Amino acid sequence: MNILVTGGSGYIGSHTCIELLNAGHTVTVIDNLSNSSHVALQRVRKITGKEVKFYHGDLLNRQLLETIFSQNQIDAVIHFAGLKAVGESVAKPFLYYHNNITGTLLLCDVMEKYGVHQIVFSSSATVYGAQKTVPLSEELPLQATNPYGKTKQMIEEILQDLSIANPKWSIALLRYFNPVGAHESGLIGEDPNGIPNNLVPFITQVASGRLQELKVFGNQYKTHDGTGVRDYIHVVDLAYGHLRALESVVQNNGVHAYNLGTGIGYSVLDVVSAFEQVIGKPIPYKIVDPRPGDIAVSYADPSKAKEELNWKATKGLYEMCEDAWRWQKTNPLGYEKEIQSV
Ligand code: NAD
Ligand code: UD1
Repeated sequence: MNILVTGGSGYIGSHTCIELLNAGHTVTVIDNLSNSSHVALQRVRKITGKEVKFYHGDLLNRQLLETIFSQNQIDAVIHFAGLKAVGESVAKPFLYYHNNITGTLLLCDVMEKYGVHQIVFSSSATVYGAQKTVPLSEELPLQATNPYGKTKQMIEEILQDLSIANPKWSIALLRYFNPVGAHESGLIGEDPNGIPNNLVPFITQVASGRLQELKVFGNQYKTHDGTGVRDYIHVVDLAYGHLRALESVVQNNGVHAYNLGTGIGYSVLDVVSAFEQVIGKPIPYKIVDPRPGDIAVSYADPSKAKEELNWKATKGLYEMCEDAWRWQKTNPLGYEKEIQSV
């Protein structure tokens, strides 16, 4: 199939492009490179030995979307493109609502026009907000608490409505837990702008000496060691999940939500300890106040994806840390500074 991957040069998108190409699909990417580098797709080509067609542009540019759909026989879309920083979304809600929601509306409108009704959408476990119990299963009520999370929740609802209006639509809503790690080649990985917000990229930068010490946000939660617990999932497992979801949307109409997580929760200190084993030296850290808006525990009930998509995460925490570290070591300053080595 010819798959349009929006946001395909980003972290999860680039890993998914590899699995799509390896599975024999043709891949067309649209990305405005607002949070990624063109080098990522060069690396995807290097890893797979296959071509990726790239349109450098914005989802908000309807004309460009029309061009892409008219120039290519697109069979299905995997829709990653979006802004994803929670703190920034609180400061700039309009930017987030416009980019994420308007972008999706335009994309779906053009898909409808060109008769393409199969879409796999990047949602997030953030749509669950704070729930009373874990593990989190798909039928829980959604209650996102920040503008970023609300864009995901609203897009899920918009896609549900599209499917009611036209039963030809076939939609997978993938609720990712905490994607970490990198491709085993060390050639592609997460390349955050500025100081990372998320735990694993922060730790890798402490390990490499780029940052001084990790701040652990709170140690008084009701967890086994007092630090926050999350469901970390290897990005390559996540990429496979998109392949399974794609196979499912081509066979089944309607809207289907799936958790993509391992079902296992690890604390911040568990992750620090796994990382220390990988690098063979201590990670300096200090305990600070909890981060506002953080929840104590979040992990998935991944059984629906196992039953309906025949998908299950296979990579453990050690491998996630090992692969994240290989990427960091090989590309200490991310993509842009490494262009000559491609
Ligand atoms: P990313 O920022 O690396 O990738 C997103 C890509 O979309 C970037 O390459 C960016 O340049 C592009 N983009 C953004 N707005 C665009 C627009 N208007 N037009 C064209 N391109 C645009 O992020 P990621 O970690 O790969 O996440 C991919 C998707 O998964 C996002 O929708 C994100 O919200 C969602 N998600 C990510 C996580 C995570 O922790 N990484 C967790 C849950 C959900
Ligand atoms: C964050 C986002 C969430 C998004 C998810 C994707 C917030 C509030 N939430 O969630 O919307 O879907 O990323 O991966 O930003 N931690 C530290 N020190 C750090 C960084 C993190 O102790 O420097 C702790 C956090 O308190 C948390 C855990 O590490 O307990 C994981 O944090 P993070 O990687 O930011 O992910 P989430 O908080 O789960």
